[in-house]
Amino acid sequence: CAFHSFVAYYYLITSVTHILIDKYLYSMRFSDETLHDIKCRFRRELENGLGRDTHTTATVKMLPTFVRSIPDGSEKGDFLALDLGGSNFRILRVKVTQDKKQPVQMESLVYETPEDIIHGSGTQLFDHVAECLGDFMEKQKIKDKKLPVGFTFSFPCAQTKLDEAVLVTWTKKFKVSGVEGMDVVKLLNKAIKKRGDYEADIMAVVNDTTGTMMTCGFDDQRCEVGIIIGTGTNACYMEELRHIDLVEGDEGRMCINTEWGAFGDDGSLEDLRTEFDREIDRGSLNPGKQLFEKMASGMFMGELVRLILVKMAKEGLLFEGRITPELLTKGKIETKHVSENIHNSIVFILTRLGVEPSQEDCVAVQHVCTIVSFRSANLIAATLGGILTRLKDNKGVARLRTTVGIDGSMYKMHPQYARRLHKTVRRLVPDSDVRFLLSESGSAKGAAMVTAVAYRLADQTRQ
Ligand code: GLC
Repeated sequence: CAFHSFVAYYYLITSVTHILIDKYLYSMRFSDETLHDIKCRFRRELENGLGRDTHTTATVKMLPTFVRSIPDGSEKGDFLALDLGGSNFRILRVKVTQDKKQPVQMESLVYETPEDIIHGSGTQLFDHVAECLGDFMEKQKIKDKKLPVGFTFSFPCAQTKLDEAVLVTWTKKFKVSGVEGMDVVKLLNKAIKKRGDYEADIMAVVNDTTGTMMTCGFDDQRCEVGIIIGTGTNACYMEELRHIDLVEGDEGRMCINTEWGAFGDDGSLEDLRTEFDREIDRGSLNPGKQLFEKMASGMFMGELVRLILVKMAKEGLLFEGRITPELLTKGKIETKHVSENIHNSIVFILTRLGVEPSQEDCVAVQHVCTIVSFRSANLIAATLGGILTRLKDNKGVARLRTTVGIDGSMYKMHPQYARRLHKTVRRLVPDSDVRFLLSESGSAKGAAMVTAVAYRLADQTRQ
């Protein structure tokens, strides 16, 4: 009987707390009507980014990638892949064979990218990348070979061909001087040449979204969209060439890197941003930039929760109004704790903040974490919905059947995130059968695939 009354009491405080928090954070909870509206706004951004007259001023850049098809299974060879700009800097050796059982074999190493390098100079960064590549080749005993290299570089780049990529702007945690406006292939080649102890043939630069789409495309030929929801967020998809004004030709398709993280940078999401989003932006490396990314990606999830908790505590709604120095310290809540969203993580967060939480506090904080993560899933469902309806219109079909390749820590770690995203997408684009395919082996495998195709084509021209 005592147990039953405890359970009843627990449920009562849970539902009362949920109602209070829902009310408090109502501006972070979107109705389907709002999500439809965001989807329509984003569709207009896609058109602006593609159009000849609107491209230069468009906020969502819609960058052509010069990747024209997903892998067709005939790729083969021995490749190196560099993966810079995600949560780790990785170097991989990818062997692609025609072996039915295990067509792709990969070996990889993770290298540190210390803070002073990601906030240092371009020369330091590329010297570091070249040094790590040399170390990897040494360990693989291939320093005497000149292997084709695929470079996953997860930042917005203007490309006029596969092996040239001019950095438009740094995003996420990177701010390296002297690289914006430069071709990263040239910078890396220069750093490799300066060493003189090995050679490398950089054949393709791909965004991580493109890499993810290609990785998933190897297993599912229907894959025509790639999404990342990690430190940053972004998507690519296969667009009809006749709609891409920046690229010659009308036949076939090309992968477009949308750079949807910049959605809202022209003020188009102002009605949806909260005081917490504005505060995050003000304290960031790139104020006024990547506003959608700051609302939806993993990088700021912990900070968003912390700012909400500070405000609630100040108003006496949490921790009996107690505010500790830890609670006021930037970065004290990590995204991984928000995205795990389990009771133990919540207790862990609160202990780190030095507050002595009551049962109600724990329930409340957990609910705040849920609302912040679900807002991210909803926002991404809306923009993805925009891409899917565009694909459907491009194909002129009544019902879209497609696969979305997806990767990133937010999507993989949060126990309910994927489900929420899938459900919302299906509601927003009802005439569709969408398969979500988790990229098991990362985007670098995809970069190797792109390199394999480029290598095959270059080989054909040589012969
Ligand atoms: C940022 C980058 C983008 C990348 C994404 C995910 O938004 O600008 O290029 O794809 O992060 O890593």
